[in-house]
Order: sequence, then C-alpha cells, then structure tokens
Amino acid sequence: MHVEFYEKIWMWAAAGLLVLFVGIMLLTAAAQAVHPPSHVETIDPQTLSTNTEFKPGVALQPDGSATVTVIGEMYDFRPDPIEVPANRPVTFRITSADVMHGFEVVGTNANAMMIPGYVSQFTIVFKPGEYTIGCNEYCGIMHHNMVGKLIVK
Ligand code: CUA
Repeated sequence: MHVEFYEKIWMWAAAGLLVLFVGIMLLTAAAQAVHPPSHVETIDPQTLSTNTEFKPGVALQPDGSATVTVIGEMYDFRPDPIEVPANRPVTFRITSADVMHGFEVVGTNANAMMIPGYVSQFTIVFKPGEYTIGCNEYCGIMHHNMVGKLIVK
C-alpha cells in the first residue's frame, strides 16, 4: 500500500500526540498519587443513627495516626470541626445518611464521595493548618452551605 509522504507525517504526528497525552495523564496521576477507590464496604443508611460501630468522631491510635468517622447529612458534616494530628496518617471513613454528598478537603487530594449505603475510606497525611471541607456533589437546595472545617495541628 502506498502512503503519501505528508500523509505519513500526519499519521505519526497524531500517534505522537496520543502517546504524549496518555503519558501526561499517567505521569500526573503517579506524581499526585491519584488512584481509584479500592475499598468496598456497605452500611445501612436507615440504621446509621443507632449504629454503634459507625459513630462520627476522631479516634487517635497508639502509633499517632488517626481514624476519622464522618457522616454527611443535608447539609452538614458530622463531626464539625474535625481535629487531626499533623504529619501522621489520617484514615477517613465516610458515608451519607441521606443523599449523595461530596467530601473534599480543599487544597489537598482528599476527595471522595459520600454515598448512602457505602463506606468510602482513604488515608492521607496533612500539613498543619486549617482546611475547608466542601461538599462537591449537588445534594439539594442548601448544597452551597454544606461546608465543614478541618483543623490539623
Ligand atoms: Cu452535600 Cu452538596
């Protein structure tokens, strides 16, 4: 099959761009530790208020790390504010009591969905400071007021 010289150049240019774009995605994902959630755990949203295993709060572990249990409910995060230690692994266990909410610690890559019926879990290390927690899933008329505070010290 005969392919014109300029046609070949454009084919190589298009293939090169594809490799470049995929490469940029893979590099930034690796550099920013972006990864899909791998934790699948279910919970009954109907009995969340009486669930003694899943109580909102911060539990400090003997090794200095912390486990934070958070419930999102129109239009609050519980607990609020959340206080965690700096430069230590902080594991969040989050779910929703009603509709889908978002849980984003602004300025960090802590960002997961709060899905009724499921527990989202992720671990992250924070630098000291005060962070805003925002709901980034539209959850109702007062969605824009669903804001919390994270204190790291
Ligand atoms: Cu909760 Cu938007």
